[in-house]
Amino acid sequence: MPKITYQVPDGTVHIVDVPVGQSIMDGSVRNNLPGIVAECGGSCSCATCHVHVDPEFVELFEAATDEERDLLEYAEDVDEHSRLSCQLIVNSACEGVRVTVPDSNS
Ligand code: FES
Repeated sequence: MPKITYQVPDGTVHIVDVPVGQSIMDGSVRNNLPGIVAECGGSCSCATCHVHVDPEFVELFEAATDEERDLLEYAEDVDEHSRLSCQLIVNSACEGVRVTVPDSNS
């Protein structure tokens, strides 16, 4: 099971096993990590699951859909590595992926 590293808004770092097929959002919510609110439960309609993916791992995930890009416009602190974590589905190549959760999701 890939280990995903989450740096959360208080600066602490959490390493979590996330099963293939689940999202980066699922891995955070199931382990009660702070920062990813996921108000819409993963249906790509709230933008409270915004994360910054470390640049070296961006290519491991499918590109953002137009829907996701539109929603990211409503998030704060967006940069070129911003994604909605409910749309980042973990695959077997994701071992060691690291994301940073911004302070602005709530
Ligand atoms: S959980 Fe709502 S957009 Fe990801």
